[in-house]
Amino acid sequence: MIRDELDKLIEIAARKIYNANHVIALVGAGMSAESGIPTYRGSGGIWTKIGEPDPRSFQNYINDPKSWWQRMLNPEQTNEESPERAKFLQALGAAKPNPGHYALVELENIGKLDTIITQNVDGLHRIAGNNNVAEIHGNRNYYRCLDCTSRFLRDEFTIIDIPPKCPNCQGMIKSDGVMFGEPIPSDVLEKSITAVKKCDAMLVLGTSGTVYPAASFPAEAYKNGAYIIEINPERTPLSDIAGTQISGATGDILPVLVEKINKMK
Ligand code: OAD
Repeated sequence: MIRDELDKLIEIAARKIYNANHVIALVGAGMSAESGIPTYRGSGGIWTKIGEPDPRSFQNYINDPKSWWQRMLNPEQTNEESPERAKFLQALGAAKPNPGHYALVELENIGKLDTIITQNVDGLHRIAGNNNVAEIHGNRNYYRCLDCTSRFLRDEFTIIDIPPKCPNCQGMIKSDGVMFGEPIPSDVLEKSITAVKKCDAMLVLGTSGTVYPAASFPAEAYKNGAYIIEINPERTPLSDIAGTQISGATGDILPVLVEKINKMK
């Protein structure tokens, strides 16, 4: 994109956000690409390399949670069975927030970002300092009870039984990360839908817009009159409803966008 044209688009997006009352962001894997985590699809994507997981992954877990926990507690097994997956998990574990994440913290701090709905399981928005985050596909740093949705920090949770039991309700504990075929936890889904209904501007950041229900949120907001701003180096199925489509990396564009909004104060 030519510099002047890019600058004009960022200016338009900044003005829209400045004038909006309820801005939310829908985030995907592209947002964490500059933190060193590969995306899922496209060249270099983890699913491109190893194929998508079994759509019955969640059902398989329910049928045999012990096997999953044994793999989980024995990373050597993953290293042997799938070196690519092990590399991906290592990248997730080592990742730190990038300038795009910090720009979203600033946006929340100046009152111009109500909620982040993220499909990322890396937890980087919370680590960067955002407070209002709906992790619609879970957070790899937590375990979750399938019955009461209580969440527990992995590092602070002592595993006694396999599968572990929820200390609050005795329900079955699994990783908070949402498996293929698993329903989105009701609390985050509700939080996301409430934010989507209320917003009058939505940032769509680094997502291919192919996984539901998250992929339906921009169209839902657009139908209700919200202005859609997409930041992604590629066009996606969501680009057509974007009032502004900015071609670029979130780590480059978001800091410039937020600086412009700050100057409008
Ligand atoms: P995808 O891998 O499907 O898409 C990543 C998007 O990021 C693509 O559109 C890229 O063009 C874009 N992208 C790449 N680098 C970027 C950058 N630096 N800045 C901005 N955008 C960039 O990832 P998601 O849309 O997040 O679910 O995938 C959705 C879900 O599919 C994931 O949450 C995961 C996966 O299966 C589960 O694991 C449950």
